Amino acid sequence: MSTNNGYAPGLEGIVAAETELSHVDGLKGELIIAGFPLARLAANATFEEAVFLLWNGRLPTQIELADLKQELAELRPLPIATVDLLHEATKARTNPMDALRMAAATLDLGSGSADSLTTAKMIVARVATIVATTHRLRQGEEPVAPDPALSHAANFLFMLTGEAPSDARVRGLETYLNTVVDHGLNASTFAARVIVATQSDLVSAITGAIGALKGPLHGGAPGPALDTVFEIGRADRAEAVLQAKLDAGERLMGFGHRVYKVRDPRAEVLGAAAEQMFRADGDMALYELAKSVEETAVRLLAVHKPGRNLQTNVEFYTALLLHGLGLDTDIFTPTFAIGRTAGWLAHCFEQMKYGRLIRPQSRYTGVMDRVWVPIGQR
Ligand code: COA
Repeated sequence: MSTNNGYAPGLEGIVAAETELSHVDGLKGELIIAGFPLARLAANATFEEAVFLLWNGRLPTQIELADLKQELAELRPLPIATVDLLHEATKARTNPMDALRMAAATLDLGSGSADSLTTAKMIVARVATIVATTHRLRQGEEPVAPDPALSHAANFLFMLTGEAPSDARVRGLETYLNTVVDHGLNASTFAARVIVATQSDLVSAITGAIGALKGPLHGGAPGPALDTVFEIGRADRAEAVLQAKLDAGERLMGFGHRVYKVRDPRAEVLGAAAEQMFRADGDMALYELAKSVEETAVRLLAVHKPGRNLQTNVEFYTALLLHGLGLDTDIFTPTFAIGRTAGWLAHCFEQMKYGRLIRPQSRYTGVMDRVWVPIGQR
């Protein structure tokens, strides 16, 4: 921990919450979600099961799962004002993460008296609709109305294209959403907890969390990570391109992590899911190229920053998997938000139940005892 008389600039090593939601062991490269090792949960659960698990601390029965699926499906349509806002955002060429942040803030329009659980379901259901609507409008196409007969993941893919997705693609997306659903006290989750800790509301917390997720040091990296793979184009160019970026002082997107000092376990799960999906329904040459870029990047980073243990993070295979699902790079981070929204809300529930106002201190480093100079003399 880098502290200086109690001051830790990035709060590394500071425990600011207790949680039953997920456990991140950065040295072992382990992620446990509500008791399940990530690989076991991600590849088996539907997204709705993962949501129920995080919000209730146990897996749903068949009836509970059917009820949750139906409730989420019914809550998918957006308020008219939200759709109008998305049209305006598209006209103004607003980036999809900003459009999501603006639209998320409108989600409780007309349902101000709903209880927290209903509001949470509404947010989970509608964040996916916002992202798909934004994508369609940016393509110059009409939004596709949600299909209540489809699961959350299948319906999202359907709303993007208007076509029923293959089982392989639905499984690929479901594995992705489960993989990113929760991850300890990351920056956006912390932001959400700080907001509800003031006894503010869930829509405010999710809006703030989306703002935090947008930055390239958090959820904004997968687009650039994929751009790098395309820029490299051929495995034999990987070393030269990546070395040039490092020489120019650039960071390699998709590598390095504040907590993981070994390969991010989410990279493992997403790499396997990407391989399975690309084999069934995709471009294996791209998968092979990405594997070779990963291997070269990790090798060069070990020489560039010895002792820093810069390894592959979640974003690298996120990029590959989401690209394989046919998503454009500009909705990679909004799609991350679709999964993480369930985790943010679970943390909000925990914070509301056990938490305390989060109010750290700052250390003043400015001048003291300044002399006041009247405006006429300045
Ligand atoms: N490429 C090149 N150098 C990197 C690097 C990367 N991806 N990640 C970290 N470094 C370097 C830093 O420049 C720093 O060097 P220095 O000690 O000489 O200043 C050192 O490694 C430690 O980095 P630091 O910024 O202290 O680590 P952090 O814990 O704050 O950062 C990230 C973690 C994720 C922000 C960082 O690794 C990063 O920027 N990665 C690229 C963006 C990315 O993939 N984000 C998605 C995160 S899931």
